Parts: sequence; C-alpha cells; structure tokens
Amino acid sequence: MIDPYKLRADFPMFVNKVTMQGKPLIWLDNASTTFKPYPVIKAVENYYTHETSNSHRGDYDLCFKMDQEVERTREAVQRFINARRSEEIVFTSGTTASLNLLAFGYGAKHLREGDEILLTEAEHASNVLPWYKVKEMTGAHVGFIPLDTDGTLTVDNVLKAITPNTKLVSIAEVTNVLAYQAPIKEIAKICHERGILLAVDGAQSVPHKKTDVQDSDIDFLSFSGHKLCGPTGIGVLYGKYDLLAQMDPFMTGGGNNAKFDMCGDASYLAPPMRFEAGTQNLEGIIGLRAAIEYISSIGLEDIEAYETELKRYAVDKIAETGNAIIYNAGSSGPILTFNVKDVFAQDAATYFNSKGIAVRSGQHCAKILMDFLKTVATVRASFYFYNTKEDIDALADAVRHGKEFLDAYF
Ligand code: ALA
Repeated sequence: MIDPYKLRADFPMFVNKVTMQGKPLIWLDNASTTFKPYPVIKAVENYYTHETSNSHRGDYDLCFKMDQEVERTREAVQRFINARRSEEIVFTSGTTASLNLLAFGYGAKHLREGDEILLTEAEHASNVLPWYKVKEMTGAHVGFIPLDTDGTLTVDNVLKAITPNTKLVSIAEVTNVLAYQAPIKEIAKICHERGILLAVDGAQSVPHKKTDVQDSDIDFLSFSGHKLCGPTGIGVLYGKYDLLAQMDPFMTGGGNNAKFDMCGDASYLAPPMRFEAGTQNLEGIIGLRAAIEYISSIGLEDIEAYETELKRYAVDKIAETGNAIIYNAGSSGPILTFNVKDVFAQDAATYFNSKGIAVRSGQHCAKILMDFLKTVATVRASFYFYNTKEDIDALADAVRHGKEFLDAYF
C-alpha cells in the first residue's frame, strides 16, 4: 500500500521544500523525468567520493571493484525485467540511444528494400526518426498501424496492418501522451507466428509496472533510468541474446573491439560489450541499480495500482471543472492529457507555473499524434507514486480558473 506522504521523506526535492514562483512545488511532469531518492544520490556520491575509477581498463583493486559494480547492475536489471541472461542487458545513455542502437545496429544491417517496419501514430520521435534513417539507408518502408478512435492500439489493427513484407514492429508499451497500454504479449505472439520481430519502447511503462520480457516474449525493450528515479544519461537496451549477437555496434572505440590492425580489419566483442564502446556512464550505472532497488522495494504492483487510482481521480477532478477537454480519459497509464477550454496549451502551462505546478505542454515529441487528436498542442500532467490527490486538487483548482489565465499576464 503506497503512502506518498511517507515516501516523500526519501526525496530531497520534497524534504528541502523546493518552491517554484514562491509556491510549494507540485511536480506533475514525471513522464519527462522523476525525482531522485537519497539512496540513488548516495550511491552516486559514494562513487565519486570513495570508488572513483574506470571499468574494464585497469589491473588494480578499484578498477576490479568497478567491473563488479557494472556487472552487478547488469544482473539487477536482468532480474528487474526477468531477462534470461545478464548479457542481454546493454547499457546506453537512455531510451533514445537504445532505439537508435537497435535501428542502426539491427535495422540498417538486416532490412532491405521492400521490407516493412511498422510503428503507430502515437510514437515518440525517438521511435520514429531512427526508423526513417533506416528507410533512407536501406529502402525499407515505414508504415503506421492505425489507432482506434479512442487512441488505443488493438490486436485487430495490428493484424490488418501487417503485410507479407513486415519484418519488424516497433511500438511503445505505454505511449507518452495518451498512456494507453498496448497488448504487447498478444502482439508478440502474432508477430512471431509471421516471423516478425517486436521491439518495445518501455520508457513510460517500465518505471510504472512490472516488466517480464520472458512472459511477454518481446524481442527488444528500451528504457531510461531517469524516468524511474535514477540518474539521467543512463538507459538500457534489452535484446534476446541471439538477436543482439546478429547486431553491429552503432558506436565503435575502446572497450568494444577484440582486435584491429592497420589494414582496417577489426573484430568486435560479443554482446553486451560489443555495444558499450568508450568509458561508460559509471555513476549512472551505479545510480541505476540503486533506483531499481529502491522502486522494487516499494513494489511495482503497488506502484501501478496506486497510479491507476491517481489517474482515475485526476480524470474525475479535471472533468468536474467543466473547463477542460480531456484526450485520454479511458487510458490507465499515469498521464492525463488535456487542454483548458479556449486556452492555448503553453499559456495554460505558464499559468500553472505561476501556481507552482510543473506540467509539460506542446506536442511532447509525438508530433504525428497531434493530427490524430486534431489539435496543435496539449497539456500533459503525469504522475508518479509520490504524487498525492492534493497535487491533483491543486491542478483542478488552476484549471477551474481558466478564464483568468490570460488576464494573469495583462
Ligand atoms: N520523453 C520524455 C517525455 O515524453 C521527455 O516527456
């Protein structure tokens, strides 16, 4: 059972009573990034104050210790998402880097002219633009699976969109604007029956619910540390080992090669090291493990249940104001996307800022979705387990006074 008031004692942003515009900060931009608890900050601090060293590059104790820290984190991530082996966990700088590694490392190598990659209209730029690059490089076609009228992705629509040329489907498990849950297990099954790979963008799902890549049987999963209470600049690409083994490195350099010579011949290490060229984000890796341990100690099932309740509460409260258009009342993910009637999204967000409330406004990097929603911009309030119903009441109060929005600046 989540007690957000108790959990706030773990977060310096709450303990230090951070304010915005002289008002207590109400942080409703968790889909963008999350606050960091003391155990994560302490783990990072300890790296800099007691354990500074590189990894995989020295024959002395501190370096050996760092090698162990990196591999311990890999094993922690393996358990966290229930991967078969720790070698299936590749460290990247975040979801964007993971998706680019997948697109360039797998897509550009294995896709050909006439092959098809399927996405949805709701995808984040990071799960669209790398595939456009693959299209340019290979001649493969990028297609879009239509969403249902409410914005959900159905198995039926996936089945209708798949053609004999489809080789890869890449979708978000929970989209970053509408927050609908995709039926990834069912989609994986129908993809695999047709020899198609399924890649999942888990940026908005992994921090909020239990992930089990063996149960869902997805082929690839990308996610970021900073959206699950970890540091920025660290993320993960999970891939089934035999698929990772078929991929080329996206970046090359120290640490990922087996040998190279003056004739230009080079050979590369096996995964995951093949994909980890250059000095790694070691404080990020250490902080990621602390974040995973922290949110696991709270419990992902409890986090999901609490956030689902917060989302329902937010839908009701914002609808009650009679002053908002809500775009995703039916989704269970902890994101509420709306507009205040007759107020441009950025003006609304600026007004909320004056009340100490942080939300995101605009297109949220999901530019194709705006055509689907028939609007140019929206306001997005996104929740995590440390948000309270009082936070939502404060947002509803600000929405209720929508007519004052523009007056506030004249
Ligand atoms: N990808 C993050 C978001 O959707 C930044 O806000």
